[in-house]
Amino acid sequence: MSDERMTASFISPVEDRLAAVEAHMRLQAEDAHPDLAAALLHLIDAGGKRLRPIITILTGELLGAPPDRLLDLSAAVELLHTATLVHDDLIDGALLRRGMPTINAGWTPAATILTGDFIFARAAKLAAATGSVAVMDMFAEALTVIVDGEIRQQFTSKGLADLDDYYHRIYAKTASLFELASGAAAILSPVSSDEREAARRFGLEIGMAFQIMDDVLDFSAAQSRLGKPVGSDLRNGLLTLPALLFHEDNPGDSDIQDLIRRNGHGPGDVDRLVDKIQASDAINQAVEEAERYVQRALTLLDTLPDRPQREGLEDLARYIVTREH
Ligand code: IPE
Ligand code: IPE
Ligand code: MG
Ligand code: MG
Repeated sequence: MSDERMTASFISPVEDRLAAVEAHMRLQAEDAHPDLAAALLHLIDAGGKRLRPIITILTGELLGAPPDRLLDLSAAVELLHTATLVHDDLIDGALLRRGMPTINAGWTPAATILTGDFIFARAAKLAAATGSVAVMDMFAEALTVIVDGEIRQQFTSKGLADLDDYYHRIYAKTASLFELASGAAAILSPVSSDEREAARRFGLEIGMAFQIMDDVLDFSAAQSRLGKPVGSDLRNGLLTLPALLFHEDNPGDSDIQDLIRRNGHGPGDVDRLVDKIQASDAINQAVEEAERYVQRALTLLDTLPDRPQREGLEDLARYIVTREH
């Protein structure tokens, strides 16, 4: 468990339900081939911030969702996240995640893909266990959007200096899952359609902020903290918000022009470009953009019942723009 997880104020009120979610996730390894079961348990043991199930628990408990259905949904959401990471690390060739070796670090691509598929299937089964077709529909939609976004990133986003493409990309890869985390919890709750919509939208807005901050950290955090090289997105030819804002402010910069001309491929002088972006005001501007998303999320929360869980969601929203990894 990371220090941040220990200290974040929104954790302690949900700690026992979160432990139940982890136990529920572990049960999904049952009846699988021993190696597959071991892989899933390894992934669960590696931890992670568990932000998505925390959002599901807090939203569902705020709005009065039945506890057993909320448990199924929270485990489904975190397993969906886990499965996307298994595939993502294969796609990105990442050998470490959460300080532990990835599945693809030890297994063939085929076995890695199948492991991800198994976890997707178990997540879908848990979504179905909520008994809500609307939840299952939202679950399937989130997965659709994530996969479509990953393909877009592979085929059309490299070297593309386009803010609309960026926002579409971060919605697809990240915000759609946060939207599911809060939105599906609201579906299971006896609330008005306005409240349901506010809860769904809350997840979406903080999900956008979360990914923007992730993209900021890719430039600003120390490599040791991040567990990956600084500027890794740019090295992969992907322009994220700090790079796009730098480009807006410095349209004539030869390094960024060069990257765009090469469609994100080829060597170029990425180190120098990373240094320039780090030293520019683009980092601050990107953080401010994330803060605007969080502000919108907090405004949406004001329309939901004033209970302790709402304060938890507020703290979580604020944590997103202050986290350091
Ligand atoms: C990682 O998500 C993938 C992104 C959307 C950036 P998290 O940063 O929530 O990963 P864990 O679950 O805490 O490891
Ligand atoms: C991971 O995206 C999140 C998903 C694809 C769902 P990234 O590749 O950008 O993030 P990290 O750096 O591996 O966590
Ligand atoms: Mg990755
Ligand atoms: Mg990726």
